[in-house]
Amino acid sequence: MKIIAIVGGYRKGGMTDAAVDEVLAAARDAGAETEIIHLIDAHIEFCRNCRTCTQAEGPQRGECVIEDDMQALLAALDAADALVLASPMNFGSVTAVTKRFMERLLCTAYWPWGKPAPKIRNPRKDKPAVLITSSAAPAFISRLSTRIVRSLKETAGLLGFYPVGVLFMGLAAMRQRPRLSDRARKKARLLGGKLVAKAQQKRGNAR
Ligand SMILES: Cc1cc2nc3c(=O)[nH]c(=O)nc-3n(C[C@H](O)[C@H](O)[C@H](O)COP(=O)(O)O)c2cc1C
Repeated sequence: MKIIAIVGGYRKGGMTDAAVDEVLAAARDAGAETEIIHLIDAHIEFCRNCRTCTQAEGPQRGECVIEDDMQALLAALDAADALVLASPMNFGSVTAVTKRFMERLLCTAYWPWGKPAPKIRNPRKDKPAVLITSSAAPAFISRLSTRIVRSLKETAGLLGFYPVGVLFMGLAAMRQRPRLSDRARKKARLLGGKLVAKAQQKRGNAR
């Protein structure tokens, strides 16, 4: 069983990264194989809104004209059994590198010229995901006042994943070298286990 983490933070060893590590460590303890992709290290260009990828009808993602790491990344996500999707909150939303990745998912929509709005090609979301974010403000305030969780959920959904849990860490910018609170660590471990259990359940159902 393979779990992929897509991390949109800018600091390795930051709060977001630490929470991802903890979720993945728990998932490995439960028998999963894990991989982390830091979006800051990947070659991902901006969507050009040429809409080439949205023209052909059908359930398969459209082909993007840009040759970068996106194709390999999407193939790895297709092959994964579960996802951890993480981004710190910057100016009330996901980070710029996360947004750039999200925008490249336009290929999951059918949207030929002449149609006013896109239609998701394949609305199936049957693989589990854990969503992680962090903010300087207390978590309950950030959660109530921004759309960040909805954005992460939407992104996971376009990739075929549904959330089984959210870890939102507030007061995350107090220290230069942040430490996960015991509460966040405990929740991260629980979510890592849950991710594996849900993915195993899906495999069992498919047999
Ligand atoms: C450019 C920038 C914008 C930020 N905007 C917000 C914000 O709008 N609200 C907030 O609560 N924290 C904000 N923060 C604080 C980050 O959310 C916090 O530093 C981050 O969660 C820490 O994650 P990391 O340790 O994984 O890097 C911002 C930080 C940066 C660098």
